[in-house]
Amino acid sequence: MKSIVIQQPNDLVIETRPLPEPVAGDVRVRITLAGICGSDSHIYRGHNPFAKYPRVIGHEFFGVIDAVGEGVDQARLGQRVSVDPVISCGTCYPCSVGKPNVCTSLVVLGVHRDGGFSEYAVVPAKNAWPVPDEIPDEHAVMIEPFTIAANVTGHAQPTEQDVALIYGAGPMGLVTVQALKGVYNVKQVIVVDRIDERLAMAQRSGADWVFNNRDRPVAAALAEKGIKPTLIIDAACHPTILQEAVSLASPAARIVLMGFSSEPSQVVQQGITGKELSIFSSRLNANKFPVVIDWLQKGLIDPNKLIAHRFDYHHVTDAIELFEKDQRQCCKVLLTFAQ
Ligand code: NAI
Ligand code: MN
Ligand code: ZN
Repeated sequence: MKSIVIQQPNDLVIETRPLPEPVAGDVRVRITLAGICGSDSHIYRGHNPFAKYPRVIGHEFFGVIDAVGEGVDQARLGQRVSVDPVISCGTCYPCSVGKPNVCTSLVVLGVHRDGGFSEYAVVPAKNAWPVPDEIPDEHAVMIEPFTIAANVTGHAQPTEQDVALIYGAGPMGLVTVQALKGVYNVKQVIVVDRIDERLAMAQRSGADWVFNNRDRPVAAALAEKGIKPTLIIDAACHPTILQEAVSLASPAARIVLMGFSSEPSQVVQQGITGKELSIFSSRLNANKFPVVIDWLQKGLIDPNKLIAHRFDYHHVTDAIELFEKDQRQCCKVLLTFAQ
């Protein structure tokens, strides 16, 4: 089989590898579609501190089960599946409180273990979620990015009366807009970004008001309209945003952080406690595949609004370079593995 391997930073090869056999409890997936995400590019460029090389990247992937290991129901052969990249132990403290996404021995496919940019991948059977027939392949490959939004909203518990402010209209901001509008019917969703084309994508994803915060500071724009957001989601992830969010938030608001910056944020206790703000962080997803499959079945979200380009996997280098260089036109880029 062919696999897309990052041998070491900036060295990508399409390698011929032996077809892997599933061991007990695993299934083998013949992959048809995979999505490129920022973290794939970070591993390619050597900017992900968790990555070990060589690595088959890719944690957003869809395909068909073509072999099962011992103890796995034979009836699963031929099943269309979308793969949850989060592998957890099931017994540690975080796992015991429903947070396998921060398992003390967390393994993420495509980061810590070989992932889905490959003609085949072997994964634990329980990570391969069956996709109902009515969900098309191109929606199924987008389940993982939407689970990030499901995890964020699982913490924030949005309500119809919320006024939400989202920083960043990249793929993560856009999936969050769709969840807030489509699933939770949030009254007002405001999105800010530095790139007008991305703001237009946010509007297409359902945002009520978008503006460019390069031209106009968020505080001034909100003050003009007398708006105090009750829910703020940082999907831009610059360390200065927390400080701004604390000062903009309504009393009793919730703030959700998604970033991994190692730079400090400056916040004062008074700003948080004075308004009794709740600050959540959200990493990957905790058992959110069934949640997003339900959203798709009910037609509450539309992954097509995020898909910008499709490339045959042989052109993966072009695909990643386009994804990295053209934030104006590019959103989700899919790789196809036709066999
Ligand atoms: P992206 O880079 O495509 O999008 C970020 C957007 O934020 C860009 O459109 C950029 O113009 C905008 N932006 C940057 N600084 C800004 C500022 N100060 N104000 C307003 N907008 C600003 O990235 P993507 O894929 O959407 O991911 C967003 C962030 O979420 C990344 O930092 C990534 O590391 C993080 N992430 C976190 C996950 C989690 O589970 N916690 C999962 C996936 C991504
Ligand atoms: Mn991703
Ligand atoms: Zn665990």
